[in-house]
Amino acid sequence: MQSESKLRETFLRHVCQTSSQPLGIVVGRAAGATIWDTAGRPYLDLLAGMGVANVGHSHPRVVAAIEQQAHAYLHVSVYGEMVQAPQVRLAQRLTDLVPGELSVVYFTNSGAEAIEGAMKTARKFTERPRFVAFDGSFHGDTFGALSLGGNPIYQEPFEPLLPVVDLMPFDDESALQRIDASVAAVFVEPIQGEGGVRIPSDGFLRALRHRCTEVDALLVADEVITGFGRTGKMFACAHWEIVPDILVLAKALGGGMPLGAFIGRPEVMRTLSFDPPLAHVTTFGGHPVSCAAGEAALDVLVTERLADRAAHLGALWVEELRHTLGSKVRAVRGKGLLLAIEFETPDATRRFAARCFEHGLILNWTLHRDTVIRLAPPLVITESELQRATAIMVDAVR
Ligand SMILES: Cc1ncc(COP(=O)(O)O)c(C=O)c1O
Repeated sequence: MQSESKLRETFLRHVCQTSSQPLGIVVGRAAGATIWDTAGRPYLDLLAGMGVANVGHSHPRVVAAIEQQAHAYLHVSVYGEMVQAPQVRLAQRLTDLVPGELSVVYFTNSGAEAIEGAMKTARKFTERPRFVAFDGSFHGDTFGALSLGGNPIYQEPFEPLLPVVDLMPFDDESALQRIDASVAAVFVEPIQGEGGVRIPSDGFLRALRHRCTEVDALLVADEVITGFGRTGKMFACAHWEIVPDILVLAKALGGGMPLGAFIGRPEVMRTLSFDPPLAHVTTFGGHPVSCAAGEAALDVLVTERLADRAAHLGALWVEELRHTLGSKVRAVRGKGLLLAIEFETPDATRRFAARCFEHGLILNWTLHRDTVIRLAPPLVITESELQRATAIMVDAVR
């Protein structure tokens, strides 16, 4: 076994780095809301593995489902050819939960891949050229998904991207008239995650739904971050009672295993099966082990009523943070257990995150807003863990 420092050194040399400052925790194990390094030091994970561990890290029921499925079979064939019970069961469970008539699921490996699938489906179904997305949005880093991104800093190095995307201001009802009959689909995060936990005003998503219906453009809700109880409802669209034409899911969907999905009405999803058939396929999408894990995670979410728990704990925590940090920061906001602390400057934000990390908290600023710290812990985090986190954060702002 390599020593911790040797392992870190090899990581820096041989595992492609995405920044000059990775967190670099040498992971020993993880459970609930805690990640331990190999020396046994605990870190309270206020990011839930970046929005994945809604039921907590390594939930025993998820691990048991993975073990059971792994003994039965792993990968057997490309997506869509064979009847694999974990995939079928998860598809049925999901379509029972999602709103409206969204009853057909296409499983992918990741969020970005699900966004790509939704883009292609919308293009082919509507036979229209254009897409609309919103400033501040993040839909993933593949070329199509990146073309929908709302921050030019991350796009410019990779241009040219898709030239058919119109970026509109988020939460601005007056701009929605610009969506016209040339638009195949509008992509929206009901609450922007990487954009800084931006919660739209009450009328915005309803007006967007209305405008899409008027011009027959598909409305695609990206609930990769907001899904599975995170915001206090199973899906965030429910806060505003809107039903999208396509719902995109990933992250917590697999309970800790890689899994994404886009879900639509039968007539929309049918478009992928002809002219030509097999025009949109994936080898590993909907892997049976990931689907078994996802089904177990969904069971935990539903039976332990974790969406309600997120609503309850989130409301208490926002109040507590406003009370204790409010005078030192620009804003504290949130819905369920998706919270933001907004600072005056990027420097203050960075120093806050660094100080919290020194004291064992995993948190970070959002990708598109370097003055916003996002808090999105596992929905099973305990009240005493939240109190400990708050105490560290109060200390850090001093
Ligand atoms: C809202 C949203 N959509 C899509 C994605 C892309 O998901 P993935 O990283 O699984 O490709 C992300 C990733 O953070 C996201 O936050």
